[in-house]
Amino acid sequence: MLKPDQIPAHIGARRQSMPINNLTDKGKSLKHPAAKAPKIFADTGTIEEIHPLREAGIINGVTTNPTLMKRAGATSWQMAKEMMQEIVTLMAPYPVSLELTELQAEKMISQAEELAAYGDNVVIKVPVGGYGAVDSTLDRHTGLKVLHALWRRDIQTNATLIFNSTQALFAAQAGASYVSPFLGRLADYMYKHDRVEMPAGNALYYLEDHKGGKENSRTDNTPYVATSGARMDAGVRLIHEIAVIFANYDVTTEVLAASFRNGVQIPECLLCGADILTIPAPLLMGVADHPLTDEGMRSFVEDSKAFAS
Ligand code: G3P
Repeated sequence: MLKPDQIPAHIGARRQSMPINNLTDKGKSLKHPAAKAPKIFADTGTIEEIHPLREAGIINGVTTNPTLMKRAGATSWQMAKEMMQEIVTLMAPYPVSLELTELQAEKMISQAEELAAYGDNVVIKVPVGGYGAVDSTLDRHTGLKVLHALWRRDIQTNATLIFNSTQALFAAQAGASYVSPFLGRLADYMYKHDRVEMPAGNALYYLEDHKGGKENSRTDNTPYVATSGARMDAGVRLIHEIAVIFANYDVTTEVLAASFRNGVQIPECLLCGADILTIPAPLLMGVADHPLTDEGMRSFVEDSKAFAS
């Protein structure tokens, strides 16, 4: 597993230059002790899940996407927009990512401007690619073009559906404020598609050509992300690779680790230099739990009965 001493010093140096994430309320003398802690976002479109997490002070942002809005009960774009607006207002001044649903650059830019008007804390989520996959007539560079156009308009963006460090770098190059590598989906893919005769993680390096061409003709990830390194989780390795590349070139686009599957990935991503984690609400609900904490509490509560008069 991950050894913290393997983390290059320049990842730490990059973190020091990043912004303050936990604000201290005006007039308070007790400064926030974790002002530069990574941002922790709730990955949800359900406002009822956001309230308790915000009250507990463990989140300073939210990410949504069309799947999460549908899961939250939205049955029309109008309804989704109203729900997203409510989240933006609740979370201000902390960032809320709202994903575009249009697929053509001009329409995407107009939609982004409409959503950005909900508040200064809105971040527009733009899929980095995949446009040609949903409609062969669409421009494959739509995502990057829109990221760049929004940067020019001073609108913050989150480049989503990132699965390798090249996509991350080009999104940053286009002006993205955040990149969202989906670590869990990478791990899922590996689990389903690895071949026993090849090194573990090979499916992330050699992507099979599903259209009938030559097998293993595409290499979409580096061998480091796919198969090597001390880290067992390919998704975490991807986060590390992006963080190192960004640190190498002083890229301040924030690395927003997304698509979590378990609690172990949380510290692993932090040790790798992730700037932000967006975590599904049910996983966040359990962050204060541990079997030994439960056992300790039971005995403290039991022993405190001796003081009951
Ligand atoms: O923020 C991205 C996230 O919602 C994707 O997660 O669980 O669908 O892979 P998942």
